[in-house]
Amino acid sequence: LLAGPDGRPLAGRTAVVTAGPTFEPIDPVRGLTNRSSGKQGYAIAEALAELGARVTLVSGPVALAAPVGVERVWVETAKEMQAAVQAALPADIAVMSAAVADWRVDGVASGKIKKAPGGPPSVALIENPDILAGVSAPGKLRPKLVIGFAAETTDLEANARAKLSRKGCDWIVGNDVSDDVFGSEGNAVTLFTRGGDVESWPRQPKSGVARKLAMRIADHFKA
Ligand code: CTP
Ligand code: CA
Repeated sequence: LLAGPDGRPLAGRTAVVTAGPTFEPIDPVRGLTNRSSGKQGYAIAEALAELGARVTLVSGPVALAAPVGVERVWVETAKEMQAAVQAALPADIAVMSAAVADWRVDGVASGKIKKAPGGPPSVALIENPDILAGVSAPGKLRPKLVIGFAAETTDLEANARAKLSRKGCDWIVGNDVSDDVFGSEGNAVTLFTRGGDVESWPRQPKSGVARKLAMRIADHFKA
């Protein structure tokens, strides 16, 4: 049993965790965002820190206090989140739990767009960079263990497996968001590994899911 220098299983390890939504401006007063309270990601950052890891939490706009002992970096847009994740590397562990906006506005207005008799403005969108896929790409800075999330309303296993291979990460935490997940305290997830393991964890507080995941990560580094 290889525990780190201070006796905790992740002592000496570093982790970067993304959490919360991103916010993509349309103009100075409006924007596009995703539904995410950040609770699951914050709980994961906290659980990793409790096991001894040095954690950087890259957070979109949420109303949560930073967990004790965790370094939080605030971001708004997906591009800012990507830059903050890059700046947190090298790290042993990456957990990308943020609900990143898939698109941003092409040509953000510098002043407030006013209502006009001609009807609503049209907004052109361009795709945001895939932060998880970028972190998972082979290279000197690739973390040893890269974990993504898949929030799905249907076909959880098929969609999660497809994301695992498309993004090149090591594990995917599949999250059935068809019932009460957003903003709630509870969560039910299934972990899919590249090696083909499947583990379903019963609905439990997000803190419980986080501790299970952190323990599973610690086991991975022990092995
Ligand atoms: N993700 C990311 N950067 C993006 C989009 C997603 O890092 N631009 C990450 C999320 O943090 C999550 C994983 O990719 O860990 C899966 O996100 P999800 O939205 O489920 O996947 P997408 O590839 O965006 O597919 P879709 O939204 O079409 O289901
Ligand atoms: Ca998406």
